[in-house]
Amino acid sequence: VTSAKAFGKIIVLGEHAVVYGEPALAGALSAGCVVDVEKSEHGVPHLMLDTQVFKVSDADNGVCKAVRIAQEAAGIAASALDVTIRFDVPVGAGLGSSAAMSVALPRAMFARADKTLDDATLRELSNQIEKVFHGNPSGLDALLAMTGSLGLFTKKGGLTPIAAKQPVRVIIADTGVQRSTQTQVSNVAARRERLGRPVEQTIEAIGQLSRMGAEALQKGDLAKLGELMNTNQGLLSALSVSSAEIEHLVHVARKAGAIGAKLTGAGGGGCIIALAPPGDEEIVASALRKHSKTVLITNLGAP
Ligand code: PMV
Repeated sequence: VTSAKAFGKIIVLGEHAVVYGEPALAGALSAGCVVDVEKSEHGVPHLMLDTQVFKVSDADNGVCKAVRIAQEAAGIAASALDVTIRFDVPVGAGLGSSAAMSVALPRAMFARADKTLDDATLRELSNQIEKVFHGNPSGLDALLAMTGSLGLFTKKGGLTPIAAKQPVRVIIADTGVQRSTQTQVSNVAARRERLGRPVEQTIEAIGQLSRMGAEALQKGDLAKLGELMNTNQGLLSALSVSSAEIEHLVHVARKAGAIGAKLTGAGGGGCIIALAPPGDEEIVASALRKHSKTVLITNLGAP
């Protein structure tokens, strides 16, 4: 068996504002996607995805298509391999699962073919695979999936890495509510159109929180980071991208002692993140488990 992995991601501060040129503070997660490939024993190569099994040749399945893109690039002849894709982050919840897969698949195929895979080729393949699932990926998710880093991201300048003073653990809980990034982004655009300046000021304020968050991480000031997260949640709610389910989990986390909690990603559903006093992660996580089916504790800025 040949294995490869890539990281998921979270936006710690600054989602939505990043669409308007403000910085977002984002980091890779130690959790992500693992791809195993091995010689097919039954002649018809299979793709195992969680509990589902597909034929790699399936023309309609996006993931099968992604597998074929990676195989062809690695020069592996007409799918002689079984492929298993495992996620240890919730899928389709804003945690960069598809980007992690788009990086892990080419890595696994090139390793299997004993070929080196340079960064430029991996970026290109990952972008090609991401496009199977998303219209216009910003590249942030793929970058973090590849490098496992942490930094301030802007649309113009890309990622400026930052060094956190100490390792930071984050608790993630899934509301279980499906959401569409596109819908959420256009809801913000519509509100900005209608209300103008106050919404623009909210967006600028969020950008400022991201910059302050980067500084807090560099200094190791987690209390400050938590306060910035709570403030950002308030502003995201002002932008209309929060929801009853998100607010509920955020309050459960805070009541259990989290120093900061907010939605992450597009909002409207998806996941929340919480910051606990170091050592108390399990206390916050177990409170969240009573209200969410998927709760994980992970390192920010993996590996
Ligand atoms: O798709 P998600 O949940 O990772 O969220 C995207 C973050 C937004 O700022 C809302 C949109 C964007 O393109 O940056």
